[in-house]
Amino acid sequence: MVKNYPTVSGEYLKAIDKCKRKLRGFIAEKHCAPLMLRLAWHSAGTFDQVSKTGGPFGTMRFKAEQGHSANNGIDIALRLLEPIQEQFPTISHADVFQLAGVVAVEITGGPEVPFHPGRPDKEEPPHEGRLPDATKGCDHLRQIFVKQMGLSDQDIVALSGGHTLGRCHKERSGFEGQWTTNPLIFDNSYFKELLSGEKEGLLQLPSDKALLSDPSFRPLVEKYAADEDAFFADYAVAHQKLSELGFAEA
Ligand code: HEM
Repeated sequence: MVKNYPTVSGEYLKAIDKCKRKLRGFIAEKHCAPLMLRLAWHSAGTFDQVSKTGGPFGTMRFKAEQGHSANNGIDIALRLLEPIQEQFPTISHADVFQLAGVVAVEITGGPEVPFHPGRPDKEEPPHEGRLPDATKGCDHLRQIFVKQMGLSDQDIVALSGGHTLGRCHKERSGFEGQWTTNPLIFDNSYFKELLSGEKEGLLQLPSDKALLSDPSFRPLVEKYAADEDAFFADYAVAHQKLSELGFAEA
């Protein structure tokens, strides 16, 4: 889709640049890249292409959205970001959340995801139930990512590689454990682990394992496990699309 990015002022661009640098130091210091990536994804992944509601427009700042069951623990990410948000009052929450996601990937060794500023903050949080359910399989993933958000099969597999970072917390999602041996490094180990099967100390959600059983998903898992450059290239495209759902549509 051709994008029609808004023109932002020179001052705004300067603030974005400075905020990006602050986020690099801050996320590295707090070891909170996984939380920041999850915040960016949960903020954007609520987009519904039919009603044009939800999406990366800062509505996660509202308690109502933080209270959705899929968002358990997301308040921790928001609290961590407060000092940054206060330092840059002219930048929208929407841009700060998405910038934090891009920086989280970059500083843990992942690809550079292009970032366009200018998302407005909206006032209406989306309805609950737009984010995927980890206990479900491929049909559900396509329902959410393809039908609702307007992304592709390839985007589903590439973005699932975001689970190279971080872990599940029993008290937040009911699951416990990490996907890879180094959850603070962004690489293609999620796909390698997925193919090598269950291992003591590591976890695979039903929605991760589902990628192995689908004739369109599985070849991509195999490709990304064998070729990190291919994963990074497709991930960067998919992450940028996610971060711009409903934004700057021509
Ligand atoms: C494909 C559907 C997906 C499902 C069902 C899913 C489900 C989950 C669940 C259950 C957790 C554990 C939360 C907790 O207990 O703290 C989690 C964590 C996480 N997810 Fe996903 N996720 C999906 C896609 C994604 C995508 C697209 C990204 C980013 C590109 C992503 C990034 C993360 C990260 C970074 C964490 C770790 C958070 C932390 O360590 O605090 N996930 N996900």
